[in-house]
Amino acid sequence: MKANNLACPIDGERLTLDKKQLRCVNGHSFDLARQGYVNLLPVQHKRSKHPGDSKAMVMARQRFLDTGVYTPLADLLSDILCKTMADLEQPCCLDAGCGEGYYLAHALNKLRAKKAGDELNLIGLDISKEAVLAAAKRHKEISWVVGTNRQPPVLPASVDIILCVFGFHSFQGFNKILPLGGKLLLVEPGPDHLQELRQVTYAKLNKTAPNKLDDAFSKGFKQVHEQVLRFNTPPLTSETLKDLLLMTPHFFRATQQGREAAAQLDNVSLTVDVIFRSLEKTEDDKTNLESPTAVVSGLPSM
Ligand SMILES: C[S@@+](CC[C@H](N)C(=O)[O-])C[C@H]1O[C@@H](n2cnc3c(N)ncnc32)[C@H](O)[C@@H]1O
Ligand SMILES: [Zn+2]
Repeated sequence: MKANNLACPIDGERLTLDKKQLRCVNGHSFDLARQGYVNLLPVQHKRSKHPGDSKAMVMARQRFLDTGVYTPLADLLSDILCKTMADLEQPCCLDAGCGEGYYLAHALNKLRAKKAGDELNLIGLDISKEAVLAAAKRHKEISWVVGTNRQPPVLPASVDIILCVFGFHSFQGFNKILPLGGKLLLVEPGPDHLQELRQVTYAKLNKTAPNKLDDAFSKGFKQVHEQVLRFNTPPLTSETLKDLLLMTPHFFRATQQGREAAAQLDNVSLTVDVIFRSLEKTEDDKTNLESPTAVVSGLPSM
């Protein structure tokens, strides 16, 4: 666990590592779990007892990602990260809504070829304790943290690049922890993403429009680049398709009939259509910051 820039979720003070605890000057302390993560989500920042993805969703996502079907996504993400971090000294990357850590762990393996591990500060943040618990098993060199994107528990302007992969955005929270010129990489489903699956689960197939970035623009970001990654997966088994359904909101939005129809699918190739949008912080967020207690977990975009 690197405590370089972790901050107390209660008062925002710097946390320092003291034996197996992170502490701030005001005496708040947070135990490092023996599995190698830290919980920086105080109870007043929770809307439910177990916010974020459930254990079943986390396990389904892990099984799915470990098949390697999304390797092209992870490769492109890692390439972008390597380019962004190449010229920075001691760069810090925060994966906001890291899930069970697949993308950040993949990126670390690639980054290692270019930079020594101790030159890097990678933080995986997720509101789901189950997700962070699974992520901590992937890589010990990454600091895995339970916390919320709305108030990421890191010091202001201390992160060089934020990743948000199919995740829950908080442009206010993101603005606060980036310096001017800091980068935000959003990875989101494009209009045809998983259309074969959506076709079966919904009565009518709607093309999903990419999220508008108006909220980001009003919170001090501009878009600097956009690229689309599109490919067809090899035919997927019914087990893998079930995992994919379970890890996405399609499962929750589908009707019973849709779920039953999806359960019959086997040996189906899917369209992957994903948009990578790079944003840059151009100014501090001038809108009111949320009060420390007004924290909500929302359904992510995929
Ligand atoms: C669709 S999953 C994506 C996970 C991972 N990025 C991936 O693509 O494999 C969205 C993740 O966001 C997390 N999440 C939801 N609300 C959050 C919040 N307010 N702060 C941080 N994470 C959140 C969920 O627990 C879940 O792990
Ligand atoms: Zn404190």
